[in-house]
Formats: sequence, C-alpha cells, structure tokens
Amino acid sequence: MNKLDLMLQEWLNVAKWAPSGGNAQPWLIQYETIESNPNTVRLELSIDKDYKLIHSPLDAHGAAAWLSIGCLKLNLIEIAKEYLYEYTHEEIFFGTNYWTSKLSLFFKLNPGKSLQENSNYHRDDFLNRRTNRNRFSQKPIPQNDFEELKKICETTDSIHYKVFQNNEKKEFVANIIPLEKIRWSNLDYLKGLLFEIEYKYPNHPASQTKIPVDQLGLNTFDQFFFKKLNKSPWLQNILIKYLYPLILQKSLVGFSNHCDKIFILQARSNSAADILMLGYTFQNLWLQINKKGIGFQPLGTPLVALGYWTQIEQVKFTSEQAKSVENTTDLFLKKYNIDLKLPTMAFRLGYITKEHGQAPRKNIFIQKI
Ligand SMILES: Cc1cc2nc3c(=O)[nH]c(=O)nc-3n(C[C@H](O)[C@H](O)[C@H](O)COP(=O)(O)O)c2cc1C
Repeated sequence: MNKLDLMLQEWLNVAKWAPSGGNAQPWLIQYETIESNPNTVRLELSIDKDYKLIHSPLDAHGAAAWLSIGCLKLNLIEIAKEYLYEYTHEEIFFGTNYWTSKLSLFFKLNPGKSLQENSNYHRDDFLNRRTNRNRFSQKPIPQNDFEELKKICETTDSIHYKVFQNNEKKEFVANIIPLEKIRWSNLDYLKGLLFEIEYKYPNHPASQTKIPVDQLGLNTFDQFFFKKLNKSPWLQNILIKYLYPLILQKSLVGFSNHCDKIFILQARSNSAADILMLGYTFQNLWLQINKKGIGFQPLGTPLVALGYWTQIEQVKFTSEQAKSVENTTDLFLKKYNIDLKLPTMAFRLGYITKEHGQAPRKNIFIQKI
C-alpha cells in the first residue's frame, strides 16, 4: 500500500461506523487521484452488487441503501478534515436506478486551512454513535437542544420533517400501526426481518453485517423466541396469522412509550440528491443527539409504504394490506404533509436508561478504480 492508500484506509476504518438498514453496510468505496492535480482525490461511493442480491424488502429499489450512502458521506467529509483534506464538491451519476448510481466526492489537500479546528466532529463521535433499542426515559430534552435539531432539519430544502412531542406519541402509534402490522404479518417482510438478525455465530464473517439478537432490546425469553422463530416456518405462520398483535405491542408501543419525542424525516422527491441529503441529515442529527448523551433509534416502518407504491417484487401485498397502505398514505399526507410515496424515516429520542452494545462491522478495503 502506498501512503495515499494507507491514509484512505484509515478514513474507511472510521467512516464504516455509519448506520445502515439491518446493519447490511451496502456500500462499495473506490478512489482515484486526478492526474492534473495530484493533491486531489475522488472517492466513488455506490451500492455493492452483492448486497443487491440479498437486500431487505424494506429497501425499495435501493433507496434505503442510497440513504445510507448519505450517512457514509458525512463521515467521510468529516474524517477527511483530520487529514487536512477538504471536501470541495460532489457529482452524482444517476444510473437507471439507485442500484447503478454513483456518488463522487472530491477532496483537496489543504494544509493551510485549519480544517481540524473547523471540524464538527471528532473521530470518537463516529465510533460512539449507535442505535439504542433499550427504553429511553421520558424526561424532556432541553429546549435549546431541540431547537438545534430543528435547525439541522431546516438547513436543507431536500427534506421535510414532523415532530411528535411526548403528548402526541399515541397519535403517531395509532397512525403508523397499520404499516408496522404489515411488517409482522406479511411473510415476505417477516423473513426479511429475521434475516437481518444474528442468532448464533458471533465470529462468523456473515454475522458482521447483521444485528446481534441480544441488541434488539428484548428480554432473554423474547430472544429465545426469535431464535426459534428463525428456524421454524410453522412458528412463522402462527405468528403472521395469530401472534403478531403481541409483537406489535412490544415493538411499536414500546418504541414510542419509552422516549421523549419522535421525528419523521422525508425526502422531498425521489431524486438521488434528495435521498442522499435525507441520509446526510439523518446522520448529522444522530451524531448531534448522541453527542449530547441522548439515545436514538430509527424506525424504518414508513418504508413499507414506499415498497408498496414503488411495486417491489419481493413482497406480495394482500388486498387488505394494500388498502391499509393506501389509507395510511392518505392520512399522513392530509394530516402532516408527509408523503409516504417518498423515502421516509422515523426515529425516537430520549435520555438513555441502559447503554447499548456496538453492532459489528465488516472491514472495508480501499480499492483503486
Ligand atoms: C435506513 C435505515 C433503517 C433502519 N431501520 C431500523 C429500524 O426499523 N429499527 C431499528 O431498531 N433500527 C433501524 N436502523 C438502525 C440499524 O439497524 C443500525 O444502524 C445498524 O444495525 C448498525 O448499528 P449502529 O447504528 O448501532 O451502528 C435503521 C438504519 C437505517 C440507516
């Protein structure tokens, strides 16, 4: 490895701690130097072809993976500053869809500028950011912190957001529950969900792109149930027919009861630029929130609606499920001006009551184009 390779490898070792749906880490990162300007580096970020073959049904046509690339972009821009490389601009190549799209980030060596001093984050912030699926306290976060978060959401026209305060969370559950119900009562979604969990082989390479079962915020009995569920098609059928209301109670009601606020963020359009910005803003909010000692957990449930409207092939919706997505989409648009036909994420936040383990990561190796 030459000096540049070594440096870029160090960037990746930090940037890889970006979040991704199901911890799939769907990215491929390559680079080239620009001959006419030896102090310039172009990093090319795209969706890994292997990931496309096994992607979650929640990842409609790669929109969620592309969103994660927006998260990764922020990490790269910030970590580059530590090495005196300034992000100058970017170019998006939009292929026929997100699967074939590419993002080029351009960096220039700039030793004169005090980039490190202007850095918004320290490398530990990327390592310490995490999904916390345990209960949060309902203690309100300080108003000035909340205002700061709103400002981040408002710095871009690419996204639209809505906040549900503590006393509005019940309303959020009532409105989103039809989509969460589909996540647990449709076998295609259930299988996707079970695939994202690591049940047994903590040291197996495949487990580096999954979520450990003991990090789901579940008690020992529920973890045991999930292990059994993963292996037993019979139990899966019982769940989607009869038992799913019990899980809904734990997953969504637990999610919303035990926190201070819930945010919904939505890309203004399906364009690659807006979804990238959704990911970038999502990651910026997440880092800021965690830096303040406040917990964060995303909820990808709105992506069920995106899958329905963009007609993903992996899922067969029953007519009842189709009706329920259509009604929920109508309601969100009329009540909150949130369009579930566009990529949308929710998250809860609140003070942490229990620390959370770090999800594993695969190593990403720097590759020259
Ligand atoms: C698009 C997207 C969707 C996600 N959906 C959920 C979700 O529905 N529930 C959840 O607990 N975590 C969700 N996550 C968090 C990921 O599971 C998490 O980022 C990943 O497992 C890595 O863990 P870490 O964030 O602690 O590094 C989502 C993350 C992204 C980027």
